[in-house]
Amino acid sequence: MKTYKIAIDGPAGVGKSTIAKRLASLFHFTYVDTGAMYRTIALYYIEKRLPLENEEVVLSHLNDIEISLRYIDGMQNIFLNGKNVTDLIRTPEVSTGSSQVAVIGGVREKLVKLQREIGEKQNVVMDGRDIGTKVFPDADVKLFLTATCEERAKRRMAEMREKGMQASYDEILESIRFRDENDSNRKIDPLKPASDAIMVDNTQDTLEQTVERIKNIIKERLK
Ligand code: CDP
Ligand code: CDP
Repeated sequence: MKTYKIAIDGPAGVGKSTIAKRLASLFHFTYVDTGAMYRTIALYYIEKRLPLENEEVVLSHLNDIEISLRYIDGMQNIFLNGKNVTDLIRTPEVSTGSSQVAVIGGVREKLVKLQREIGEKQNVVMDGRDIGTKVFPDADVKLFLTATCEERAKRRMAEMREKGMQASYDEILESIRFRDENDSNRKIDPLKPASDAIMVDNTQDTLEQTVERIKNIIKERLK
C-alpha cells in the first residue's frame, strides 16, 4: 500500500514540530518527531552516566536501547525500554547530548530503520534533519524551514517562559549555534536541504502565516 510522506527538515527552533503537528492534524496524517528519538538515546547515556561523546561506549550499549512510540490523546509519547520519557527528554542537557549522539553512524542507522518502518505503515508528517535526504528520499513533499538563529532563540525563549521555565536568551542562542554547527558539519547525513526540497524562510512570518503557506504548498503537491 502506498503511504504518503511529508518531510519537514530544518534547524533547531525553526518551528518544525509545531508546524508538523498542525499539518498532521489538518491532513489526518500521523506526526512523527524524530528529534525525540535522538533525545531518547541521549537520555539513556545521561541516566547511566556514560560518556555519550565516546563512540565506542555508545555503540557497545546501543542494542540495550529499545525505543517505541505510542499516541496518547493524539500526542506522540516516546518510551525508552518501556518507560515514558516524553517530558524527560526536553532538558538543555539532553538537547546538547542528542546532537552529540547524532553524529554516530550506528545511532543514525538504528533510528532511520525505525523511522522507515513507521512511515511504511501509515501516512506521516515527519520532522527532523535528514528526512528528505536520507529517511525518505522519495517523500511526496519535502520542506526545509529556515529562520535566523536570533529569531529562533527568541521563539525558544518565549516558549520556555510560557511554560514557566527560566530562560536566558544568550544561553539559548549559544545552544542553538552549537547544534546548528554540529548538525550541519557532521559527516553522516548532515543538516542540509535535499536538492528537491522547497525552502521556506519564516523569519518574518507568524506561526499562522507559516502554517497557511505550507498547507497551500502541500495541497498543491498532493493534488
Ligand atoms: O526540536 P529541536 O529542533 O530543538 O531538536 P530536535 O528536533 O528535538 O533534535 C535534537 C537533535 O537530534 C538535533 O540537534 C540533531 O542533532 C538530532 N537529529 C538528527 O540528527 N536527525 C534527525 N532526523 C532529528 C534530530
Ligand atoms: O521543532 P523546532 O525546534 O523546529 O521548533 P518548534 O519547537 O516547533 O518551534 C519553536 C517555537 O517557535 C514554538 O513556540 C513556535 O510556536 C514558534 N514559532 C513562531 O513563533 N513563529 C513561526 N513562524 C514558527 C514557529
